[in-house]
Amino acid sequence: MSISSDQLHLRPEEMESLWMPFTANRQFKSAPRLLARAEGMYYWDDHGRKILDGIAGMWCSNLGHNHPKVVEAIRTQAAVLDYAPPFQMANPLQFELANRVGSITPKGMSKVFYTNSGSESVDTALKIALAYHRVRGEGSRVRLIGRERGYHGVGFGGISVGGMGANRKMFGSLITGVDHMPQTWNLKEQAYSRGQPAWGAHLADELERIVALHDASTIAAVIVEPVAGSAGVLVPPVGYLERLREICTRHGILLIFDEVITGFGRLGKAFGAEYFNVQPDLMTLAKGITSGTVPMGAVVAKDSIYETFMSGPPHAIELFHGYTYSGHPLACAAGIAVQQVYQEENLFARAAEMAPHFEAAVHSLKGSRHVIDCRNLGLMGAIELQPREGAPTARSFEAFLRCYEQGVLIRTTGDIIALTPSLIVEKAEIDRLVTTIAEVLKTLD
Ligand SMILES: Cc1ncc(COP(=O)(O)O)c(C=O)c1O
Repeated sequence: MSISSDQLHLRPEEMESLWMPFTANRQFKSAPRLLARAEGMYYWDDHGRKILDGIAGMWCSNLGHNHPKVVEAIRTQAAVLDYAPPFQMANPLQFELANRVGSITPKGMSKVFYTNSGSESVDTALKIALAYHRVRGEGSRVRLIGRERGYHGVGFGGISVGGMGANRKMFGSLITGVDHMPQTWNLKEQAYSRGQPAWGAHLADELERIVALHDASTIAAVIVEPVAGSAGVLVPPVGYLERLREICTRHGILLIFDEVITGFGRLGKAFGAEYFNVQPDLMTLAKGITSGTVPMGAVVAKDSIYETFMSGPPHAIELFHGYTYSGHPLACAAGIAVQQVYQEENLFARAAEMAPHFEAAVHSLKGSRHVIDCRNLGLMGAIELQPREGAPTARSFEAFLRCYEQGVLIRTTGDIIALTPSLIVEKAEIDRLVTTIAEVLKTLD
């Protein structure tokens, strides 16, 4: 069923009720950008204009848009079972999807707890970490360690361990007992690194300093994104994650990888943990689990963590946590279809094959006007611009608007342009993304 473009156009008064997230509401409503339809690598706006999606929706549509098998699975499921309660009850699809996800996670990490978003996954993982230590008799481990420039969603747990000032400053004192490691990006030492920067593994040793300050017996968990995404694709230095793992293990601290972006093929492997060959204790997932089609997230726990909770009387609820929509039938149906297609179309390997072309394309922007760094890993890329004097973020936002005018959707964070195309992207589409950016940068003050 197609919707005529007349129906899609909105008058200003029709936009009044909506309070938009992470958006300059008044500016947007004065010149709205509406996406009305999607297929594969493309969106169509409300005027029928075709737009190349350079960021997989918002780092989530790993399969591309509206894959027919996923559309069919959601449609069918909607007519069979709309909802089933997830507490003391379940629907069969929850088990099937958990088994599928559990079969591609690192060895010994097969326990899947459902949430509905990345933010909920993060808060769930932090709660599991705290509860785990308490269950095993180390209830003094209550501190949580995040990292500067980390993004872990917008729940109170997530913004507390997160390291993006704008996301924190308005919201009070946040949760207590949180410390932050330094972020890992350094322009002088790492500019134009292809893949992992050689410099910076020693920054993991800052965790030792924090442990010395508080004592390991007070620290529950460390949470990092294997590659920081929302802060602008900050790739971990060679050896950095290995060192974090080693320090956490030595001090009995759980290591949580926030794989909301890096999960499901973004780096050419199922997870960042597999790509870097560093095993966390807990992983947070969302986005690619359903390729963005129906909201869903999950926490994957080591089997030994799950077993620790299974120690009380069998009739007792082991974890007082969960959501009305945990393992929602529509999300599970979408997730199962998405996981099937990843496998049938061998998309993680495809992303790995495409990564060298993507790397060359991203780095071809070195020397373009205003560019001070290009960086990449897998199908994650960033082009950092020199901020405009006295007006940080203005230049990149203009780049975003002009690319959109040219029919290309990119994403910006600060003065950084991020590119994270779907895993189905073709070489010609990667080339179009960077040539459009290059042309647009020429036109910017
Ligand atoms: C690493 C990471 N964690 C958590 C989140 C939050 O996910 P959501 O927006 O689904 O709550 C994001 C979102 O971009 C993310 O990139």
